[in-house]
Amino acid sequence: MRTVTSQLAAGATATVAGTVTSVNPADLGDEVTEVQLTDAAGLVAAARAARAAQPAWAAVPAPVRGQVIASIGRIVEANKAALAALVTREIGKPYAEALGEVQEIVDTCDFFLGEGRRLYGETVPSEMPDKQLFTFRVPVGVAAVITAGNFPVAVPSWYLVPALLCGNAVVWKPAEYAAASAQAMFDLFVAAGLPDGVLQLVHADGPATFDGLEQALGQRLVDKVGFTGSTAVGERIGELCGRYLQSPCLELGGKNPMVVTPAADLALAVEGALFSGFGTAGQRCTSLGTVIVHEDVHDAFVDALTSAVAAARLGDPREDVLYGPLLSPRFAQRYEEYLDWIGGHHEVRGATGRITADNPRDGFVGDPAAGLFYHPVVVDNVQPDDRLFLEETFGPIIGIATYRDLDEAIALANRPGYGLSSSIYTTDPTEAFRFRAGVGAGMVSVNNSTSGAEAHLPFGGNGRSGNGSRQSGRWVLDQFTRWQSMNWDYSGRLQKAQMDTAAIVPDLSYRLA
Ligand code: UN1
Repeated sequence: MRTVTSQLAAGATATVAGTVTSVNPADLGDEVTEVQLTDAAGLVAAARAARAAQPAWAAVPAPVRGQVIASIGRIVEANKAALAALVTREIGKPYAEALGEVQEIVDTCDFFLGEGRRLYGETVPSEMPDKQLFTFRVPVGVAAVITAGNFPVAVPSWYLVPALLCGNAVVWKPAEYAAASAQAMFDLFVAAGLPDGVLQLVHADGPATFDGLEQALGQRLVDKVGFTGSTAVGERIGELCGRYLQSPCLELGGKNPMVVTPAADLALAVEGALFSGFGTAGQRCTSLGTVIVHEDVHDAFVDALTSAVAAARLGDPREDVLYGPLLSPRFAQRYEEYLDWIGGHHEVRGATGRITADNPRDGFVGDPAAGLFYHPVVVDNVQPDDRLFLEETFGPIIGIATYRDLDEAIALANRPGYGLSSSIYTTDPTEAFRFRAGVGAGMVSVNNSTSGAEAHLPFGGNGRSGNGSRQSGRWVLDQFTRWQSMNWDYSGRLQKAQMDTAAIVPDLSYRLA
């Protein structure tokens, strides 16, 4: 078993404050790596080294930085199978999905390599003669990026790639339970030729990270925080950053609704609910939370979904399965608490809880006792005040609620107060557009799953899902650059804005005869 440790710039030290083991959640006897965790001072040291390294990186012409991003894409592509296999082993994501996850890094690099030759500013006319206005995008400086482990390499790339392209230095703190995947990704990025200190990897637990971030912000060593994780932690990070007048890029939880109208293609809706509810074992921030189905089609929908769930292949994530284990023992434990939210008024068909010899699953692929495998759960008759309706339940569980008219469906979709992803299944365009306008989510799918966003559209949420920041595509550039405006007066005299402007006097009293 290899040990992974923080990767700081030459001369910066991260003291080892403890160790944890990252285990294969599909095979708990398989220890993937030992992770050496550092303390708050380790994170501060990384931020200080990043501060020192950043100006030289920003001075590299953006097209050349784009070439480095292009190289990262090619190196990741060449290592696609190995990196995907490691992701599968470390967090239990089915191999086909893990390949897709690695592809998302490649797609992100392919998008941003060209941005190196754009990073456009503008020339803007002045209100005065012999004067010219301009805008420039400038890097923010040092970005501290803290990521979850459910997408241990793709979601970090959404931060790292644009941040580096824009000329920032990055300190990346990945999830401890996905540390080996993070180390592999770090190695692939560095192989592309990033100068020392431009990208550093810090392994630390939550309290040390928070403490280190607070110190680094206090010492003005960090200019942007990116965080993907729970709403509760996101709130604390937002509060901390606010004290230093910073707006972090927050990508938090979701309780993503799927509305199924009487005009829906029900078979398609069932397929979408199965994938978005149970793909990745329901552990995406974009996973389906509650299906809000019209009462006229409720029974037909639930029957078909129940059959589809029963027929799904689950088990060993190296095989062709819908989902494998939960991410780590901590996630499994928390998921069991969500199962306690199932109450007497709910209807659940089939088994719940951990899949074991005593609580078996037909057709399970592999040995359920080896890992953290859980039954898929569909909870019918969920009510708007239930915890199951209102709160994110990271894991293979979805709720079903019913509605009578579309306004009620939209109100139910918005009720939990998250606002990440949403979906409507309908063949009626009026319903689709009314839902789009009424739902508070940052992302809306029509006749498609709540999960599976493409890598070049704005990704992000509102309300409890985030502070309105957006990742991906050109929109993320606003996270990692700031606009600088310049005005250049070549008239040779002081021309005062608003006062010395030329005026052409109209005849406002003019009327047609
Ligand atoms: C996440 O779970 O944090 O849209 C991100 C999706 C994926 C990303 C999920 N491309 O489902």
